[in-house]
Formats: sequence, structure tokens, C-alpha cells
Amino acid sequence: MAIRRICKYGEKVLEKKTRKVDYAEVKKDLPALLADMFETMDAVGGAGLAANQIGLDLRLAVIKIQRENEEPLSLVIINPELAEKSGSMYEDEGCLSFPGLFAKVRRAAKVKVRALNEKGLPIEINAEGLFAKALQHEMDHLDGITFVDRLPLLSRLKLKPALMKLKQQWKKLDESKMRPM
Ligand code: CO
Repeated sequence: MAIRRICKYGEKVLEKKTRKVDYAEVKKDLPALLADMFETMDAVGGAGLAANQIGLDLRLAVIKIQRENEEPLSLVIINPELAEKSGSMYEDEGCLSFPGLFAKVRRAAKVKVRALNEKGLPIEINAEGLFAKALQHEMDHLDGITFVDRLPLLSRLKLKPALMKLKQQWKKLDESKMRPM
């Protein structure tokens, strides 16, 4: 297992829609890749990580939601598609490709997502709250959309100076050089 470097804001791979995964094609390499993705996400305390955030053009992501008095909810989504959404929420969001930056983003409160799991089996996920937020955030990544793209123009403009300042720090940040926790 290894921690991978996480691509930061400004890197083109984050702006490109990812390629649908051919499960049979990736099957052999998948366990090692997913282990790396979970390790990378855990090392920086993230709730989700999309494959293109570590530079791979694959429509898959991992999610890990911490829950009170319960085991964390861990999930692999391959080729996820949004089947249904309802309601609305407006909460703070962050992203491992924008470390230290947070902003309120409008999301659906409930979603139904269809995907394949790590075994290549079809799954249907009904989520709300934090879990729904993470699913929408990661699916956006896989479509080449970051959470900052979801902000109204005025918020984006207000955020610009902070973003430019953080961008300088991100240049020096390489998660693959971190020690596993
Ligand atoms: Co993100």
C-alpha cells in the first residue's frame, strides 16, 4: 500500500470527465488501487477521494463517513450514476484537492445512486445528509467538476484571493511523502 499524491486545484486532470471503467479490465489491479485510495484518504482525514484526484482517468471513487458510536461507513463506487435526487441542503464543504478551503455548497438532501461495488456487482445506494453530500461531491469530481465550480459567481469571486494564496502552499504539498497514520 502507498499514499498517493493528491492533485490540487489548477491541475487539468481535475477538470476532465473521467472514463467509464471496464471492470474486467481493471479487476486485477483494483484491490491494490483501492487500498492506496483508502490509505491516501485516511492519511489526510478525507471523507471521499475520486480516482482523478490521484491522476487516474477512471470513473471510480471511495467514500468513508465517520459516524457516532458506529464503525465508519466505507464504500467503493464504480461508474456511479445519479438515479434520483430530492430536497436541498446548503452546508460547508471542503475537498482534498483544495486543502484548507471551505465554502457552503447547495446540494440535494437525498440521493439515489446506482454503481458497481469493488466486486463488480451492481449496488443501489440511498443516502441523505453527509453521505448524500459526499456522493454528490465525488460524482462531480468524476464529471470534472469541483465544489468551487458549484458556487455562485459572487462567492467564487470573493474566494479568489484566498484561493490564490492557498495555491502557492499547495505547490509544496505532496501527500505521497507523508507517513501513514
Ligand atoms: Co473533493
